[in-house]
Amino acid sequence: MRFAISPHIEKVHFPPISEVKSWVEGRSFAQDKPLIDLCQAVPDYAPPPELLDHLKEVVEDPLTSRYTPDEGLAEVREAVAAWYRRRYGAGPGEREICLTIGASQAFWLAMTVLCREGDEVVVQTPYYFDHAMGLEMMGVRPVYAPFDEAKKGLPDLDVLASLITPKTRALLLVTPSNPTGAVIAPEAVRALFELARERNIALVLDETYNAFIAGGVVPHHLFSDPAWGEHFVHIASFGKTFSLTGYRAGALVASPGFIHHAIKAQDTMAVCQPRITQQAVRFGCSRLDNWTVDNCDMMQRRHDLFRGQFIRTDNPFELVASGGFFAWR
Ligand SMILES: Cc1ncc(COP(=O)(O)O)c(C=O)c1O
Repeated sequence: MRFAISPHIEKVHFPPISEVKSWVEGRSFAQDKPLIDLCQAVPDYAPPPELLDHLKEVVEDPLTSRYTPDEGLAEVREAVAAWYRRRYGAGPGEREICLTIGASQAFWLAMTVLCREGDEVVVQTPYYFDHAMGLEMMGVRPVYAPFDEAKKGLPDLDVLASLITPKTRALLLVTPSNPTGAVIAPEAVRALFELARERNIALVLDETYNAFIAGGVVPHHLFSDPAWGEHFVHIASFGKTFSLTGYRAGALVASPGFIHHAIKAQDTMAVCQPRITQQAVRFGCSRLDNWTVDNCDMMQRRHDLFRGQFIRTDNPFELVASGGFFAWR
């Protein structure tokens, strides 16, 4: 390559999951000591057969091969809005939802709307690597809130507040956290929102694992506040919720004004979430509540088993945090 490329992307490290997979490429492992791949957060169970049957029918419809509106089909966004009302007790209206190519693209839409080159985003450590990589390649500076072992991966409001400068556009957190599993309690989410409001910045919450909070606890009550959209931007992944990671099913949830600008970026990045994915999301949001709860319970049982092993005194590792989907040592 003899031409110059962006100095921002040059500095960004290679995707860690691809790198880790390359370590074991071509290697085989004994049957009594199999390799257990925990490097990517993918539900290992299949989507339910009724969803797959539904999609087989959808494929036959000639419309399935066509674009949809940039933000997604109205009936799909209505089903998503109803899912939020059931899961959070209140939720966005359909004009406050843009369906995206996974939570990954929702993140890009959010940051493209919020940030200019040279801006800062406060990021809680340990962070989801794609967030830092994305910000760096945009020329946006991630300002890291340090990991505090005593807080078990939960954010410290005073520390976050101390990192806000005139260049800060957003507080960016993941709950339940990848990689710690720590779940920020609803009242702590409210306090983060109040901080964002006081400092007139956005609170961006990546809630990719919101369907994996034990006991179906409501993640937070921000959507009940009529002014939530003034300072809150939410990122969702139905890929994790309905085990559809390959369908690339996500959503950006924000005020209608924010979505209006996000749609400009959506149009240039992807035009729309694939129609087949939208039909899968609609089916999942309308018909899979019980299936989702059963899988959350099953993941919680796995979590408890895993945790049980890691807190044994003869285990040399120390478990620092764990919860929705993840454990951190
Ligand atoms: C915190 C977090 N955000 C976003 C994503 C990406 O999700 P999606 O597959 O919906 O793009 C992941 C995937 O592991 C994740 O852990």
